[in-house]
Order: sequence, then C-alpha cells, then structure tokens
Amino acid sequence: MNTPISASNPARTSEEASLAAQYQQILRNNDRGGYTVPSARLYPFQWNWDAAINAVGWQTFDEPRAWQEVELLLSGQWDNGLVPSIVFHKPADSYFPGPKEWGGSHLSPPTTSISQPPLLATMVRKMYERSRTGEADQHIRTIVPQLMAWHRWWYRDRDPENTGLVVSYHPWETGSDNSPAWDAALAAVPAATRAYQRRDTGVVDASMRPHKAEYDRFVYLLDFFRECKFDARKIYDECPLRIVDFALNAILLRANVDLAHLCDVLGLADEAQELRGWHARGCIAIDRLWSTPLGRHVSLDTRSGQRLEQKTHAAFLAWYGQVFTGDADTQKSAILLQHLDAHVDASLFSLTSTHPSEPGWDPRRYWRGAVWPHINWLVAEGLAECGHAAQAQRLRTDCLRLIQQSGPFEYFCPNTGEGLGGPDFSWTAAIALILFETQKTQQP
Ligand code: SER
Repeated sequence: MNTPISASNPARTSEEASLAAQYQQILRNNDRGGYTVPSARLYPFQWNWDAAINAVGWQTFDEPRAWQEVELLLSGQWDNGLVPSIVFHKPADSYFPGPKEWGGSHLSPPTTSISQPPLLATMVRKMYERSRTGEADQHIRTIVPQLMAWHRWWYRDRDPENTGLVVSYHPWETGSDNSPAWDAALAAVPAATRAYQRRDTGVVDASMRPHKAEYDRFVYLLDFFRECKFDARKIYDECPLRIVDFALNAILLRANVDLAHLCDVLGLADEAQELRGWHARGCIAIDRLWSTPLGRHVSLDTRSGQRLEQKTHAAFLAWYGQVFTGDADTQKSAILLQHLDAHVDASLFSLTSTHPSEPGWDPRRYWRGAVWPHINWLVAEGLAECGHAAQAQRLRTDCLRLIQQSGPFEYFCPNTGEGLGGPDFSWTAAIALILFETQKTQQP
C-alpha cells in the first residue's frame, strides 16, 4: 500500500498543487465550449450526472464555467421536464448509440430519451453555497424552476401509481449499466435482432465493457422507447424492464431536500412543500425495501416482483439519501455501517461497485466489481454528514490515493489499483479537485 495521504504533510503541498493543475487541465482539455465530455473518445458528448459533478469540479477554479456546464445540460431539457442522460451538442462518430438511434435527432439539441441519477439539484446547492463570485443568486433563479420541472417529471411519469418511488426502464438510466443487480431483470428483455455497430470496444479493451448479450438488450430497449413514441403510460405498462433502483431513488430523495432548500432561498414556498412531501413519502416507501436478513435496502424488479438482493454499492447511498429519518432507523444505520466496513475490507482499495463474493463479480468489467470514484465520493459525503467521519475519511483517502497513483481514469481495479476504462476522465479529475478542497477545510 502507498503512504496514506496526510493533510498535514508539508512535502505534499507542492505535489498537490502540481496534481491540481493537471486535473484542471483535464477539464479544460475535455471542454467543448461550455460543456465537458467525460472522456474524449469514449464519451464525446455531455452526460447528465457527469455534468453535475464536473460543474462542482470546475467551480474549484473557474466559477462562471461551472454554471455554464449546468446551463448547457439543461438546454437539453424536454418540454415534459425530462433532463436526458446525454445531450448530443455536436456530432461525433466514436460513440454508439447516437441521436438517430434514440429517436432524438429532431430535437435541438439532440438527446437520448431516458434520464440519469438526479444528482444535479444537490450539486447546484453545493455550488450556491460555495459561490464566491456573487453570481449564484441570478443563476439559481433560472435553474431552480428547470430542476423543479425535472423532479415533477420523475414523479409524474415514473411513479404513475403514486408509490413514492420511481422506476427506471433502462440500466443506462441507473448509471450502473451492467451491474449484476440487473442480470435477472435484463434476461427477461428480448435481444435486439437488428444489426448495430458498437464503438466502445474500439476505444477501450472489450474486457472492460459489457458483453454483447447485454448490449443486445440495451439496444432492444432504446428501440422500444422510440417505437412507443416516448408515450409515458405505454412504456410504464409495457416495457419489459421496470426496476426501482435503490441508488437512483436515494439520490432523488436527497435531491428533493436540496432543491427544497433552494426554493426556500427563492421564496418558492409551495414548491418547497411539494419537494419535502416527496422526500417524506419516499422515505416511508423506501423503508419497505429494507431487508432484515441482508441488513440493507435492496432494489426491486416491479415486473417480476423479485427483490434484487445483490451486494452492490447502492445500499451505501442510504446516508447520502437521508433515508434514515426516525429513531428506529438508528439501528439500521449501525448494521449498514458494519456491512460497509466488511465490503471495503474485502478489497485492497476502497468500496467496489459489487462485493467480490457475488457470483458474476468481475474487477475489470465496468460495473461488475471495480471502484468508481464518484460513488466513493457520494457515499463519503453521506457518511460525513451523518457523523461517520472515520468511514468517510477512509473512502476519501483511498479514492484520492487511487487517482494520484494511477491517473484520473474512469474507474479502478480494486485489487491492483490499475486505472481502467476511459483515460483522462473528467469527473475523476473533478472529484480529486473537490477532495483537495475538502482536505483543506479539514486541516487543523
Ligand atoms: N454508460 C453508457 C455507455 O457506456 C451510456 O450512458 O455508453
């Protein structure tokens, strides 16, 4: 293991300054004129949850550029409130599937037809509170109503039966594309029979990407949405994949709280009440996903009625999601903390997206077992906010160590620390910059 990073070691200061300059340069190199591509060839457009994190990263050294990131993402918002997973601002041929496949090429700008984990309200609140330029008030006046429309879309289109939790129809919407948690649900989806040409495996090694059998189903689903003409009710009733992802719901519940806070700032009392209502109702509903034998929340396949019990990172977003609300939850939180320690102990580096004991675990293949920096960062944020400082520090330290040792890759091998997936990855660089700032504020 490398020497642990210590905030009080003066020798690190100039090294850290030089690394920070490198990470800033990655964001600048990936800037395409107001939006940031996650990695130049692998992901040559603007992604939704990447943009939310990248904006906070930009704010550490260029606040006007940070707000621009948010505004350009929201320029892809649909009239019904959906903020799509990808905004295809400019054409690029190194990625599949593009706007035509999604049926979104007539839009301006072209987009996909699904969303992504809604981190944005939480990140915008962070930006508002960290703002040093005095421009934040003006930005949130425009951004907050757009975020409100997006959250209303989630509850209207993705929870038409008013359960308090939202569904997803595509693993790409959950962000954890080929997680073992989705294996059974995805197996029930027919494989696309039409020809298509993947681009990802021409950019990074195929051993780091989902299998063809998964892509056949990813493609079937996007064809299905297009053929349904994006009719929300028809898709809800007929989509062969329909899951309640605990992670996405925890992120949305948390975002409701942060957006309510921003509504308070703007004097939008009705909206704030609506948001707090969603959070309160959602916490009651999500409690039904707690598994006593497993000591964690699980996801749910609402097509088959099966609980998806794979041990993934998702459960550890409970603190971030602020889902432990009552006295009775104290014990659940303590149990979950033990599982977190065991999960982190199971690898050399940090929290993996899937526990190594799970069948189908693979430390290199995308979401089947590697370490993802943004997940570690979000889990650490929640832990720190709930008073679990030691666990938060462990994740933050491990995460920074990986990035510094191996470079800002998309994700990392939990056994060797090797950087995997896309190189010069924007949100990894952004997270390192944010973590440097967090360390500074924690210095005695
Ligand atoms: N993660 C998906 C991909 O790899 C898209 O969001 O293309």
